[in-house]
Amino acid sequence: MDREKITLSGAQETMLATLYGRAIDSRSPNSVLHDDEADRLVRRIDYDFRKTGMSRTSAIGVAIRARQLDDWTAEFLAGHPEATVLHLACGLDTRVHRLGPPPSVRWIDVDYPEVLALRERLLPRPPGDYRTIGASVTDEGWLEEVPADRPTMAVFEGLTMYLRKEDGRRLIQRITGHFPEGQLVFDCYGTLGIRLQKLVPAVRNAGATLYWGVDDPHEIESWHEGLTCLDALRSVDMPYLDRLPAAGRLGMRIMAHIPVLRDVGHLLRYRF
Ligand SMILES: C[S@@+](CC[C@H](N)C(=O)[O-])C[C@H]1O[C@@H](n2cnc3c(N)ncnc32)[C@H](O)[C@@H]1O
Repeated sequence: MDREKITLSGAQETMLATLYGRAIDSRSPNSVLHDDEADRLVRRIDYDFRKTGMSRTSAIGVAIRARQLDDWTAEFLAGHPEATVLHLACGLDTRVHRLGPPPSVRWIDVDYPEVLALRERLLPRPPGDYRTIGASVTDEGWLEEVPADRPTMAVFEGLTMYLRKEDGRRLIQRITGHFPEGQLVFDCYGTLGIRLQKLVPAVRNAGATLYWGVDDPHEIESWHEGLTCLDALRSVDMPYLDRLPAAGRLGMRIMAHIPVLRDVGHLLRYRF
């Protein structure tokens, strides 16, 4: 089978780093995420994955982040079997395949049209009520295509840092204003992480730029009435950190004890 040549750059190209991280994790007998489809995808893509600079520690870190967001999404769907899932900046993430939602769930993957075209060529179409929307999440309009009739889980991984704060605020306000109730789950960098972005090989090598860092997860609560932070999990306190290589575990323990470093990133869950 011909391998798929990649011509993306910038923020779009960074999806190959997270894909590669999940593939590396899946090859381990002690895998956190068991994303075997990610590994199949990596083998079908003609790209020098060394460019991502993914170490074993960063790969397993990506898998841990994805696992926590999967677990929160699955928990929401268990309580709301007739829900909409809005998976923003889906890239080549196989979240819908990993979670296998029941047919009563409406699942919508959103990313730029060129990313979705690649996704369509490389990934099997999931069964059930599934569709994609090709747009920048900052565009006005695309959300109007989504019926506002159900509790909604908006999950976005590896997105907020590529947005300007004002665009992130508008996005959150549009989602919380559109749907009757639901949750938002996403990851973010702190402002220190944004300042240190040149140290992240996947970002630097793709020529991407990071903008928005969140230091106070409670600030976001003021952006919509009733928006409430349920969890603010520091990256250094995530579950499954015991799966990291010894050097990674030590690094995390050290960071957790240094006040300016411990808030370098968060996984956030809000209810609205
Ligand atoms: C680091 S990748 C993460 C992809 C995927 N969530 C994952 O974890 O593998 C960043 C993704 O954000 C998408 N992205 C960045 N800015 C976006 C925007 N304004 N609208 C839609 N997608 C965007 C990129 O196309 C890319 O797929």
